[in-house]
Amino acid sequence: MKTRIIIALDGFAACGKSTLAKALAKKLNYVYIDSGAMYRAVTLYCLENQVDWNNPVAIQEALEHIDISFRVENGMNQTLLNGQNVEATIRTMRVSEAVSPVSTISAVRRKLVELQQELGKEKGIVMDGRDIGTVVFPNAELKLFVTASIAVRTQRRLLELRAKGDHITAAETIQQNLLDRDKIDSSREDSPLRQADDAIVIDNSQLTQEQQLDLALDLAQICINQQDPILAK
Ligand code: CDP
Repeated sequence: MKTRIIIALDGFAACGKSTLAKALAKKLNYVYIDSGAMYRAVTLYCLENQVDWNNPVAIQEALEHIDISFRVENGMNQTLLNGQNVEATIRTMRVSEAVSPVSTISAVRRKLVELQQELGKEKGIVMDGRDIGTVVFPNAELKLFVTASIAVRTQRRLLELRAKGDHITAAETIQQNLLDRDKIDSSREDSPLRQADDAIVIDNSQLTQEQQLDLALDLAQICINQQDPILAK
């Protein structure tokens, strides 16, 4: 059987992690898991059910009623919250504005990290997020830390939102949301966003999608060969 590894991608908001992770998974025939979608789905549940996430009893009770799963449709990952497809709704600004505070809560992180680790049991997985290389898969064979300038990240997220039909959110609002989330994500007590000691940094501000994919694929191939009992001899 072919050697399969775990690839962990972490980085700041809207830095192109998921584009790279999806493309890598496709090339390698691996499963792609967007851990941010899970935090977004929990946030959506809280918003829709008026859950006060600062109340530990309320959040615990909510978590017991939340089931998150993924389905692939026409080659695209769809996020399901209690069986309902919420892929579009979890990407809206309403969710982006609440997701980082919700993601600071340890009970939320415990539940989602357990699910993420379960999904990676068989390896052959690419997962992106904030704590994948540090907490979820500290032994991942390849860890990438993706960065890009705030101007590039804002522009990319603006285009994504426009393509999804949001024609009103201003660039300044998007930029502020990215900066706010970066700050909360990096400074929280439980599993803050940070570069793992053994992560390789990819700054993609000046790279095309193809260039960053080629770079990551080369790195993945090296790691796969290192794990191969015959090639590694
Ligand atoms: O795609 P984007 O960079 O906007 O963010 P995302 O990956 O969808 O993640 C949304 C939010 O979820 C982040 O800003 C974090 O607050 C949280 N998150 C987290 O805490 N840990 C993860 N492993 C992934 C996301």
